[in-house]
Amino acid sequence: MAYDVTESDQFMERLVEKASILIEALPYIKKFRGKEVLIKYGGAAMGNEDIRMNVLHDLVFMSYVGIKPILIHGGGPNITERLKKEGIASKFVDGLRVTDKKTISLVSDTLADLNKSIVHDINQLGARAIGLSGFDNEILNVKKVEAKEDIGYVGEVVAVNLLPLKELTEFNIIPVVYPLGIDEKGEMYNVNADEAAAKIAAAMQVQKLMILSNVRGILRDPEDPKSLISSLHVDEVETLIKNKVISGGMIPKIRACIAALQGDVKKAHIIDGRIKHSLLLEIFTDQGIGTEIIL
Ligand SMILES: Nc1ncnc2c1ncn2[C@@H]1O[C@H](COP(=O)(O)OP(=O)(O)OP(=O)(O)O)[C@@H](O)[C@H]1O
Ligand SMILES: [Mg+2]
Repeated sequence: MAYDVTESDQFMERLVEKASILIEALPYIKKFRGKEVLIKYGGAAMGNEDIRMNVLHDLVFMSYVGIKPILIHGGGPNITERLKKEGIASKFVDGLRVTDKKTISLVSDTLADLNKSIVHDINQLGARAIGLSGFDNEILNVKKVEAKEDIGYVGEVVAVNLLPLKELTEFNIIPVVYPLGIDEKGEMYNVNADEAAAKIAAAMQVQKLMILSNVRGILRDPEDPKSLISSLHVDEVETLIKNKVISGGMIPKIRACIAALQGDVKKAHIIDGRIKHSLLLEIFTDQGIGTEIIL
């Protein structure tokens, strides 16, 4: 059989290219190895099975190259669906879910179920993960949020108990946290996952906060994915909120990024979880995707 030089050269080239890609990641692996990064995974980007497995795969990869990811997840759409089944309509004030006694118990059940399945999937993919509740494990100490109207059992994080997280990351176990909080009286509160992520990021002094959602990042025109703001200075934020460019669930996200940066987290990004390997792209390349918030 004739030996096709061209074909074999092309094959070799592809292999070399693959190896080069690995080498290109080396400076980033050096930079982040042994360090913690915090990933907030939004419910809105968790619904699709392919997206979810992609995100978790990236997380497992990070863990294998020695980076210590901490995952905190929301569960908006699942919670809304669960409440609907019980005949409860969802209501939001500035992106925060109005939460009465019955709602908090359904929120807790839904988040616990989601948490279990995320932990299961990560373990199946070969990394080690353990699920934690901000309430049961007393990670998120909260007080009731004072909003323009009473929004019930919605807590604002006043202190973070790092011990359960540190104990896990020390042994390269990925903590997977769901955002319930505990107040002074031992009462359970719903906490916005973005806020919880920011508070944990600052308390842990992680290298990076990455908030994954179901949008390209912050858009100047929410209808136009091409209007992505790739880097946004904190000074611009309040005007964008006032002009309703940033609204709903994006408000706690942007506030979370600012709080984390003010708490000395070096970088904060809002990233599209629907893009394949968005986490790896954000960590292992210079380009960065989504919106970076700058102080
Ligand atoms: N300027 C903006 N750019 C992009 N998205 C925006 C903007 N303003 C508001 N949004 C809305 O913010 C939403 C993202 O927040 P949302 O709370 O729905 O998701 P999540 O936080 O990822 O999920 P969960 O709350 O379940 O954890 C987007 O789907 C979009 O509708
Ligand atoms: Mg949200």
